[in-house]
Amino acid sequence: MNTDEPAAALLPQETHALCVSQEFTDDFNVLLAHNDTLSFLKTVPDRTARLVVSSPPYNIGKPYELRMKLDRYLDWQREVLRECVRVLKPDGSLCWQVGNHVNAGEVFPLDVFFVPIGQELGLRLRNRIIWYFEHGLHAGKRFSGRYEVVLWFTRGDSYVFNLDPVRVPQKYPGKRYFKGPNKGKLSGNPLGKNPGDIWRFLESEWDSGIWDIPNVKWNHPEKTSHPAQFPVELVERLVLALTRPGDVVLDPFVGVGSSVLAARLHGRRAVGVDITEAYVEIAKERVTALHRGTLRRRPMGTAKYHPTGNERVVQRPMEWDTTS
Ligand SMILES: C[S@@+](CC[C@H](N)C(=O)[O-])C[C@H]1O[C@@H](n2cnc3c(N)ncnc32)[C@H](O)[C@@H]1O
Repeated sequence: MNTDEPAAALLPQETHALCVSQEFTDDFNVLLAHNDTLSFLKTVPDRTARLVVSSPPYNIGKPYELRMKLDRYLDWQREVLRECVRVLKPDGSLCWQVGNHVNAGEVFPLDVFFVPIGQELGLRLRNRIIWYFEHGLHAGKRFSGRYEVVLWFTRGDSYVFNLDPVRVPQKYPGKRYFKGPNKGKLSGNPLGKNPGDIWRFLESEWDSGIWDIPNVKWNHPEKTSHPAQFPVELVERLVLALTRPGDVVLDPFVGVGSSVLAARLHGRRAVGVDITEAYVEIAKERVTALHRGTLRRRPMGTAKYHPTGNERVVQRPMEWDTTS
């Protein structure tokens, strides 16, 4: 992990727990703004956030977006991203979670367009994470879309990256070296393995110890009236790996506040802006529910490790559950 700037001191939990403002102010644990994102971002000082994370509109005609020509959409997104880069700390990260733009049945994978835009703005791509899930629309004239992408960029070559808080269970945690100087020692990291760059949901493996992240459909505990929420646990993994306690996490298209919740669950400060008032209201309610301990959510890391007794190597008698 490389860090060139210390995290700001975390404000006491009770101090301005939730601040609602059209503009940026520095006295908050959670700052929610009902505003156009570019207007809001222009009020945010340079180098404020350790992590900018968002799922922008995909320009596919959802109720919350104006559908425009792809070139115009990308020009607008470039301007938003330029502001996001300006407000990032030098060792900060930007994560853009995107799917496909579809026009007259033709598919335009948005990550293909966003990678060169990020590079043009001086960002460096660290991972193109595939988020795979089983649920979604069933296509009639092409294969059904079953993944989206998280582009993880950093602003520089020195950046915050903490693997330990996001490790997942080893498939064979008791496996040992059988020869050489380390003979008899565990061959894998006892804290678990790197989660890799394919994050998946397989309903059939729900209880089998696979560390999965389902998308938010009607039976998901986090579902609200928003048509395109991302799951809190998807952002939790990014928050834990790419920031430290007290850091600012900013979402320029915050919707119903999923990334704000992920940040607060782990003691980070959170800023979110959305143009749709109804979503900002729901985000406020969810933040309040979080502070009261009544938030409905699917906790990260509930995939427990249950030995079956038929494993090929000795398994550690432990459960994997990082919820705290
Ligand atoms: C894909 S959704 C984000 C959902 C969010 N990740 C969540 O979990 O709730 C995109 C959001 O962008 C917002 N939006 C669209 N145009 C905007 C603009 N010009 N400024 C701010 N927000 C905007 C929409 O209201 C919508 O909530």
